[in-house]
Amino acid sequence: MIQIFPAQAADLPEVDTLLDARFGPARRNRTAYRLRDGVLPDPALSFVARDGGGLVGSVQCWPLQLRTAGGAILPLTLLGPVATAADRQGEGIATQLMQAALAAVDAVGAPPVLLIGDEPFYGRFGFSAAATGGWLLPGPVDRARLLLRGHMAGLPDIGWVEPAVTVRRVA
Ligand SMILES: CC(C)(COP(=O)(O)OP(=O)(O)OC[C@H]1O[C@@H](n2cnc3c(N)ncnc32)[C@H](O)[C@@H]1OP(=O)(O)O)[C@@H](O)C(=O)NCCC(=O)NCCS
Repeated sequence: MIQIFPAQAADLPEVDTLLDARFGPARRNRTAYRLRDGVLPDPALSFVARDGGGLVGSVQCWPLQLRTAGGAILPLTLLGPVATAADRQGEGIATQLMQAALAAVDAVGAPPVLLIGDEPFYGRFGFSAAATGGWLLPGPVDRARLLLRGHMAGLPDIGWVEPAVTVRRVA
């Protein structure tokens, strides 16, 4: 039976093994990794899926920020990676993980959630590229895959997405 648990620091080695298997070791060259360089995942918003003890899925969230042209800093939440074990696709594991993470985001009133991913998958959870067309990242990104969920009112058309410098939560 698949069970969803809050992620613990002790889960990190297993999570890394899963992510290496699903994204490959070059995953660390992706732009998303530059957004969480030196930052640990937020344990209140990160979850693992287990079945009989074995890790079958993971979602992590990280503190992030958007710097506006006027120099204001707006907090965001970076969601990802999301991964399900290769032999457990299509069982609803990623859906359960997304639901757990987003319920936690809403429960604690975390900042709007940003991710880099496929809108055909993440759109079902309320993500869209509508607000992010003018947001710049520290690396290349496919604009159609820069997706935001949350309170978009008041967010600037143009901004710089950066690793959070004010929050360093330790798992
Ligand atoms: C993408 C991924 C997390 C989905 O995990 P999963 O546990 O199989 O997903 P679920 O079972 O909860 O949901 C499956 C549904 O998502 C859809 N789906 C999965 N990946 C999709 C994608 N890239 N685009 C559109 N739909 C997608 C499936 O078609 C299926 O649709 P259905 O419910 O209408 O049948 C998994 O395939 C994975 O780990 N991929 C490798 C890592 C990755 O690409 N992660 C996401 C980017 S951060």
